Amino acid sequence: MEARRIQIFDTTLRDGEQTPGVSLQTEEKVEIALALAKLQVDVIEAGFPVASPGDYEAVSQIAARVKGPIIAALARATEKDIETAYKAVKKSEKPRIHTFIATSDIHLKHKLQMTRAELLERAERAVRYAKSLVADVEFSAEDASRSDWDFLCQVYERAIAAGANVINIPDTVGYTTPVEFGALITYVREHVPNINEAVISVHCHDDLGMAVANSLAAVAAGAGQVECTINGLGERAGNAAMEELVMALQTRREYYYAVTNINTKHIYRTSRLVSALTGIAVPPNKAVVGDNAFAHESGIHQHGVLNNPLTYEIMSPESVGVSRNAIVLGKHSGRHAFEERLKHLGYEFDADTINTLFAKFKDLADRKKMVFDRDIEALIVEKAAVRPE
Ligand code: KIV
Ligand code: ZN
Repeated sequence: MEARRIQIFDTTLRDGEQTPGVSLQTEEKVEIALALAKLQVDVIEAGFPVASPGDYEAVSQIAARVKGPIIAALARATEKDIETAYKAVKKSEKPRIHTFIATSDIHLKHKLQMTRAELLERAERAVRYAKSLVADVEFSAEDASRSDWDFLCQVYERAIAAGANVINIPDTVGYTTPVEFGALITYVREHVPNINEAVISVHCHDDLGMAVANSLAAVAAGAGQVECTINGLGERAGNAAMEELVMALQTRREYYYAVTNINTKHIYRTSRLVSALTGIAVPPNKAVVGDNAFAHESGIHQHGVLNNPLTYEIMSPESVGVSRNAIVLGKHSGRHAFEERLKHLGYEFDADTINTLFAKFKDLADRKKMVFDRDIEALIVEKAAVRPE
């Protein structure tokens, strides 16, 4: 059996820009979109053109200048939104209109003030109109995970009949859990009669810290597209982090039997670019792209990694574009790692000198959280050790 190909839909420039405090200029968005194209994402959601003239301009520029991925523009299920999205995205070689409307009773009652019957009509009309403008239409049922499952299936059936190529199942408020979300995907697959005419997409938020886990459960249940953002940016607690999702699929290929087209070697630099332009720092302990993701502090771990990285690394730093694992010298570091660092710095000492330096290093490490190369150089100068030729 051939591994299934999962489409990566990046929404850093749309949902990611909804991160509180983030506002990107057009040229910054183009720079990120070019990096995403290099990363080989399948879809870039470039923005929500009706939201502001700046968003409209950024989507138009990206549509005209970024080649390779599908360029999507978001629109509510209204003619004005859809027409504006179309105008912004039409210069793309592969334009997509992504239209959405909420389907949960709580949103119907308190936000849309609509009945379920009215919503079915509106969703169908929106997809039909979008389809009259572009060949590629995605339909999202906002708050799907809190919607009635049978009603949700009716909505998707109508959207597909009206021409939707992709139906998206968002966990808008990050409410679901992996087992439940996997079951919802299976339910949709089994209860929407025309489901084979569309790709199933998922869009998970991270309010309970489960966006990536829920997305993976959806892939296991048959979803073919995952929506995600670089560094997990997004509304409130953010979206599924692309780097985590992609590396989970790659590292556990034998379990998911699914592949993406992402050039993982570009992950780290894309993450740093997004962090620099949005001003949102990557936490040091962030999976895959944090400073500590490949850093080994304890002596036992350092010894293992120096002998064979597979002892404590489930993916190589090089696979995500990090040049080498960082052996962080601290109070838990062992003599082996210390000696390796001396060699790396160009020093070769006899065993007695190393023992003396190691004792001084341990003493320093007790006072200082991390010992840097310059601290080791200082210890050596202090000891008046001999530098090799
Ligand atoms: O979270 C959500 O439901 C969304 C939709 C617009 C897809 O961002
Ligand atoms: Zn969202």
